[in-house]
Amino acid sequence: MPQSVIILGGGIIGLSCAFEAARRGMHVTLIEPSELGGQASGAAAGMLAPYSENTEQPDDFFHLCLSSLRSYPEWIRAVEELSGMPVEWVQSGSINVFMHEADALPIASRLQWQNDWGARAQLLDAAQLRKLEPMVSHSAVAGVFTPQESHVYAPKLVSALAAACRKLGVAVHAHAGEIEEVLIHTSGGVTVRAQGLASLVHADRLVVCAGAWSGAYERWFGLSIPVHPIRGQICSYEHQADEVRHMVFASQAYWVGKRNARLVCGASEDVAGFATSVTERGIGRLIRSSNQLFPFLEGRQTAHSWAGLRPATRDGLPLLGQIEGTTEVIMAAGHYRNGILLSPITALVVADLLEEKKARLSISRFAPQRFTAPASRGRVRA
Ligand code: GLY
Repeated sequence: MPQSVIILGGGIIGLSCAFEAARRGMHVTLIEPSELGGQASGAAAGMLAPYSENTEQPDDFFHLCLSSLRSYPEWIRAVEELSGMPVEWVQSGSINVFMHEADALPIASRLQWQNDWGARAQLLDAAQLRKLEPMVSHSAVAGVFTPQESHVYAPKLVSALAAACRKLGVAVHAHAGEIEEVLIHTSGGVTVRAQGLASLVHADRLVVCAGAWSGAYERWFGLSIPVHPIRGQICSYEHQADEVRHMVFASQAYWVGKRNARLVCGASEDVAGFATSVTERGIGRLIRSSNQLFPFLEGRQTAHSWAGLRPATRDGLPLLGQIEGTTEVIMAAGHYRNGILLSPITALVVADLLEEKKARLSISRFAPQRFTAPASRGRVRA
């Protein structure tokens, strides 16, 4: 088993990998160029919703999501216990709302396969829907209630993970500046040079968890890493706890009531490079969707608006696994819409690989080299 690991990236994925590697006895150094959780992780609505986010089929990605949801109870218990910080895990269940009869037609087959995989979901007619969610518009015709889905307060999970990592002895370097060099040595081991760190960092293994910035590692790994940022604009309203009782999904937006009396409404999907500004158009669409589904919000001012950058790969699937031809480098990036949900399973799989065990579930579909033809793969070792 390797003794030492460098984790590059201090978002939810990097912090989770650091936490699990340290729990398994490894000596971990985490390097984050800027703020811990300062990008997608801190902006996320924190939904743990594998059924609502995967409506087509039970493929390998769905199984990764489901397995992560099932890891959450033990994961939260360990993070809260070690950090002493609550992460506000709310087991609210979710409701997918349909405004037109035609939208509800494909639901039977979705319910069948999702219930085969533990969703315990049920179809709601208009009256049942309003019984569960009384403030929803009278134009809504049907819904699907999925009691297994829940949410966490993502910024609190990030802070708790960072505290738990420190308790476990992880050397956490936030604001370390640009990663200037990554060397994978012919003789084994890796070295990282970061602009803001006084000395080079050496370790047996490297895990790259750089989110939307992962493409920058192409030059060191001789691979094509097509990860690009998809901006998610979000807003929130002041909110009384019983106004919106579940996580609610509609075709254009979702709503999540948080314990801090805020109703979070997300999220746009737009391409704006690495800009994290919000636009009138993006937030305006969320407000229109809110007014349409929840008429009581009409005229209520939004309390806050912000944006995060989801790391999207070309095929929408994460990059998870060792870089072919090395045992030293593991990628855990490109989690797109599901970074918070996928954080425990990603960390467990990464730690399995660090321990040189077989990953606990099939990850071949997520191989980091899948976008690079074998003949085009470059030299990895220095
Ligand atoms: N998972 C929700 C989002 O990406 O907006």
